[in-house]
Amino acid sequence: MLLGVTGSVAAFRAIDLASRLTQGGYRVDVVLTEAALQFVRPLSFEAVTHRPAYTDESPGTLGGRAIHVELGERARLVVVAPATADLIGRYAGGLASDLLSAVLLASAAPVLLAPAMNARMWEHPAVRRNVVLLRRRGVHFLGPESGLLSCGIEGPGRLWPVDRLQAAIEELLAPASPSGNVARSLEEELAAQRRQSFSLRDEYGKGVSGMPKQKKAAKKPAVKKEEENSRKEKGGSAKKK
Ligand SMILES: Cc1cc2nc3c(=O)[nH]c(=O)nc-3n(C[C@H](O)[C@H](O)[C@H](O)COP(=O)(O)O)c2cc1C
Repeated sequence: MLLGVTGSVAAFRAIDLASRLTQGGYRVDVVLTEAALQFVRPLSFEAVTHRPAYTDESPGTLGGRAIHVELGERARLVVVAPATADLIGRYAGGLASDLLSAVLLASAAPVLLAPAMNARMWEHPAVRRNVVLLRRRGVHFLGPESGLLSCGIEGPGRLWPVDRLQAAIEELLAPASPSGNVARSLEEELAAQRRQSFSLRDEYGKGVSGMPKQKKAAKKPAVKKEEENSRKEKGGSAKKK
């Protein structure tokens, strides 16, 4: 699987998550954003996963292919923990301005995002809109939970506890469990979604809060229109007949 780590105070918890998942038998590729490097170092992840950790400074190719394509296609599951408001916004907006965002767009695997941020950030309409948009695209959100945040205020925004994240990930990946089936059907669903071309108006028109709904013009069936036209030509109506 691929574990993305972003620039949150909770980033250090991702080391424990990577360690537990590796001990659980999973191959964990870690991608850290530039901002994550202010909180944690690639070496910590390399030490627990026994694999290289990737950053925006990593070479552009891996196994002879573009690194974001290779990492995205290799992953059976993409988990971003913690996921910042910024990363959520980039993913919702379809931006690929850094390695992790590019991997998210290049992967057909199910995606789990575990947000961590200040409660006001989490409740901000812009973030809410991005979350709704991503959920509608089949992205799963694990948390956040409510509690006393590192910024001193209380509310939703805490990263889910690592053991809870681990359990949710393992359940999703278990091949024989009903959730394993969920993972498979999610993969199929996501692949189908990618095949479908959809317009932004379609995407926003289906009730994302804050976005105006398109008024649907009542469409008359072509046959009815023809009947009406012939009635007009004859100067009468069906009732009069
Ligand atoms: C000390 C500090 C802690 C931060 N913690 C968070 C956080 O928990 N969640 C969040 O969304 N942003 C947080 N930020 C802001 C992000 O680091 C910033 O938006 C950054 O651009 C995110 O980049 P990334 O998404 O590429 O990792 C924090 C910033 C600082 C300086």
